[in-house]
Amino acid sequence: MKTIKIEATLAVYDSVDELPKDVMELMSKAMEARSKAYVPYSNFSVGAAILLDDGEVVLGNNQENASYPSGLCAERTAIYYAGANYPEAKILKMAITAGSRTQPTITPIPPCGACRQAIAEYEVNQNSAIEIYFMGETGKVVKANSLADLLPLGFDKSFL
Ligand code: THU
Repeated sequence: MKTIKIEATLAVYDSVDELPKDVMELMSKAMEARSKAYVPYSNFSVGAAILLDDGEVVLGNNQENASYPSGLCAERTAIYYAGANYPEAKILKMAITAGSRTQPTITPIPPCGACRQAIAEYEVNQNSAIEIYFMGETGKVVKANSLADLLPLGFDKSFL
């Protein structure tokens, strides 16, 4: 028997003001997207902004539904839009901001497992890392250099 240690190093910025300028702009677009989220059931809004290698920015937010499981997270709304409309582009960065509409959210909110799996599909296909930045509404911002750092032992097409 042997053991395997899985490690990832994340960067933590004290606030959006510490971010590189392009990421600050991307996060501010994610905030704008978050303000338009359709969240009548959870009152928890999430915005995502994706920077493509041609400079295009794709936005998404969570879209809920009276039939709860039919709703979709912000990250997947955004990345599926990118995949549908810019299939040739590489995804460089994703900025995510999330918060409750009923109380302040200062804790960085990471993407859910299903969204990590969805983002991983594109990272594996393009064979280059997607930087992920996530935060609450305000406060610290966490950066992962690659989606793989948030999803160790991921399942992908190589196993099929
Ligand atoms: N949500 C996202 O948009 N992204 C995540 O990564 C986690 C959860 C949404 C889904 C639902 O509309 C609300 O947040 C509460 O779960």
